Amino acid sequence: MRIVLGVTGGIAAYKAAELARLLLQQGHTVQVVMTRSAREFIQPLTFAALTGRKVITELFDHSSPEATLSSSVEHIGVAQEHDLLVIAPASANTLAKLAHGLADDFLSTMYLAFRGPVVIAPAMNNVMWEHAATQANVSALRALGHILVEPADGYLACGTYGPGRLAEPAVIADAVERVTKSGSDLAGQTFLITAGPTQEPLDPVRYLSNRSSGKMGYALAEAALERGAKVILVSGPVAIRPPRGAEVISIRTAAEMLDAVMGNLERASVVIKCAAVADFKPAVESAQKIKKSQARLSLELEPTVDILATVGKNKGNRLLVGFAAETQNLREEAHRKLTVKNCDMVVANLVGGSGTGFEAENNAVVLAMQSGEFVELPKAPKIEIARQIIDVTAKIIDRRMRS
Ligand SMILES: Cc1cc2nc3c(=O)[nH]c(=O)nc-3n(C[C@H](O)[C@H](O)[C@H](O)COP(=O)(O)O)c2cc1C
Repeated sequence: MRIVLGVTGGIAAYKAAELARLLLQQGHTVQVVMTRSAREFIQPLTFAALTGRKVITELFDHSSPEATLSSSVEHIGVAQEHDLLVIAPASANTLAKLAHGLADDFLSTMYLAFRGPVVIAPAMNNVMWEHAATQANVSALRALGHILVEPADGYLACGTYGPGRLAEPAVIADAVERVTKSGSDLAGQTFLITAGPTQEPLDPVRYLSNRSSGKMGYALAEAALERGAKVILVSGPVAIRPPRGAEVISIRTAAEMLDAVMGNLERASVVIKCAAVADFKPAVESAQKIKKSQARLSLELEPTVDILATVGKNKGNRLLVGFAAETQNLREEAHRKLTVKNCDMVVANLVGGSGTGFEAENNAVVLAMQSGEFVELPKAPKIEIARQIIDVTAKIIDRRMRS
């Protein structure tokens, strides 16, 4: 692949040299584009020596009258001649420019003229990263279908600890490898993914629910879309935006989720049941708001329909992936669910701890496979975990097609 590597102005700019080396090792050609600020941190010569190519630094090249003439369209030429754009490190400033379509230097102008996949690896101080403006820009870039390689937690150059540190060059190179190798290997597959919580009404203003944020299910949808799959996302009420390209069916209760899943099962080749569906619902939904008059209130609950088991019984040739959120005996529960619910794989995560599971940005899971094996996916941002789950799923699909 012909890759443009955009380097912007941050302390982590020096790590882009290692990334350039890894991309070259993977067999790609690498054209480096540096912003003016990036050149405050690292010399273009480093990249020129590594890649064997002149580094592009300016939109307007005034080195000679001829150069001025040719450079007037170089940003379009570079955009057309390359297959993939990687920006690492991406500064808060550049994220904002890309998200809003500003084009005031070579990198941002070329980006607007670029049609291929874009991989963005931000790096900055943790407070800058967590700022609402930066997060809104990141969401906007995700919504454009770009692949965000999330910054890691760690000690930052400014002396603080938190999220914002550039992902390791090897992690960014892996993300690039996934895009280049498997850009559309799931084309033709339809993933039916459930996400988020359900809400089971008690009365017109109250409901029983759980702490699921929908982040894991939405990350799975994004990861499947990245590889060319069609995605039907059946989602409970959440406060996050769905990835661009997913067909979203919004539901509220477990019964509505059951209807949405069974009503679309025919169209799906893979079903991933990531939603945290209520196991119980109020036996009676009060038509009026329940009054505070009693000293105590007892609720009678009745079980909801088990959607995973229902799909398991009716799955035909479809691949079924279940999720198990447990507070103990993770592996045993995952294995039990795999057998009882007729799943092809169960993704189990410990919930109730800190830093992973419900509401968290990160997750750590164990995959229970039909072979009896377990695959550990250590703590990582949910999108990274999702990509690995989709990767394992793609391998199962591939094995089945071959046999
Ligand atoms: C010492 C120093 C370190 C910086 N590190 C970062 C950083 O890690 N991430 C970031 O977003 N901005 C960082 N900045 C600020 C950017 O360099 C600045 O916003 C600049 O306008 C980015 O321009 P660019 O996006 O065109 O490269 C740093 C600035 C200085 C002076």
